[in-house]
Amino acid sequence: MFNKKTIRDIDVTGKHVLIRVDFNVPLKGGKVLDDTRIRAAMPTLEYLIKQDAKLILCSHLGRPKGKRKPEFSLAPVANYLGGLVDSPVSFVGDCLGDLAKSIAAALKSGEILLLENTRFHAGEEKNDPEMAAALASLADVFVNDAFGTAHRAHASNVGVAELLPSVAGLLLEKELIYLGETIANAEKPFIAILGGAKVSDKIGVINNLLTKTDQILIGGGMANTFFKAQGYEMADSLVEEDAVETARELLAKAREQIQLPVDVVIANSFSEQAEFKIVATGNIPAGWRILDIGPETVRAYASFIQKAKTVVWNGPMGVFEFLNFAKGTFGVAEAVANSDAISIVGGGESVAAIKKSGLADQITHISTGGGASLEMLEGKILPGVAALQEK
Ligand code: 3PG
Repeated sequence: MFNKKTIRDIDVTGKHVLIRVDFNVPLKGGKVLDDTRIRAAMPTLEYLIKQDAKLILCSHLGRPKGKRKPEFSLAPVANYLGGLVDSPVSFVGDCLGDLAKSIAAALKSGEILLLENTRFHAGEEKNDPEMAAALASLADVFVNDAFGTAHRAHASNVGVAELLPSVAGLLLEKELIYLGETIANAEKPFIAILGGAKVSDKIGVINNLLTKTDQILIGGGMANTFFKAQGYEMADSLVEEDAVETARELLAKAREQIQLPVDVVIANSFSEQAEFKIVATGNIPAGWRILDIGPETVRAYASFIQKAKTVVWNGPMGVFEFLNFAKGTFGVAEAVANSDAISIVGGGESVAAIKKSGLADQITHISTGGGASLEMLEGKILPGVAALQEK
């Protein structure tokens, strides 16, 4: 059960509300390249504006490591946000200090102030109590809507939550309902699709999902490590040698539940123009490498997905950035989009793939979190969530 208070449970009328958002978005030359995370915060912002609150927004951007670096400024995001909302949006070049304090204090109901990157101060990532206190001094109430950052215990999401009445925003609530409740009580058959390069990144996820799912369908570079564990010659394929033993243990524990590709697309170099062919899983010829799952595998995986009532997907099936090695990922995307199951997609690359496939609107929930969504799939309680008030 989602048992945290949300913005619907408190009175914010006329109050100064500090909202931690995750506006860590890709920028190029001062332009926002992908506004998904900004748009995802809109329901919370619009709700608070309607309630006549005074909105003070804070976020990190990138990893400036406690230094003020202009390329990590949130100023372009403030501009962009100004184009999305009807309310006036102002920006202050430091999230701490007198200027931020006086501009915040002068806000009128329904107005928005975006503070500069919290990671320009070293105290942010150290969860420094002084920094948390300085942020808390700007507001009466704290709202955490930064799901993408909820796996970090930093001053602007955990420190500050300990000092103010603190509740969840609507995005955080939605993410936790899908990645928490829906998965914990998943309707069966429950299928997980896991891809990406490394088994080591997904061990916690696999172990947790083995206790909940009917099948885990494996693709991407991590499948190679499982093949190696079965004794296959992998030639130039990416194999995570340090994780071969773990893969072997997982297979010994759950061979029936873990599905591996039955055919693969191999290439004679890692490039868009590489020569390629489809071969049955087994020994890869010298000089070749696996870059995608094959069509038989897509068919087999699609038939599991078709029968599912719940599907969760994290990580691409191959090097989908190269056209010739994208069919596995897009084939799986199509199967997930066409199924009647509740579908949840998390993790930067699988989200990018689903968007690229044009099928995003057929997915029940696309997470805004990368690391945060993985930690949810590991069954962890995120520190940014733990710090909020219970209902
Ligand atoms: C993300 O993009 O995953 C979040 O914004 C967190 O960023 P971080 O990994 O730099 O903490």
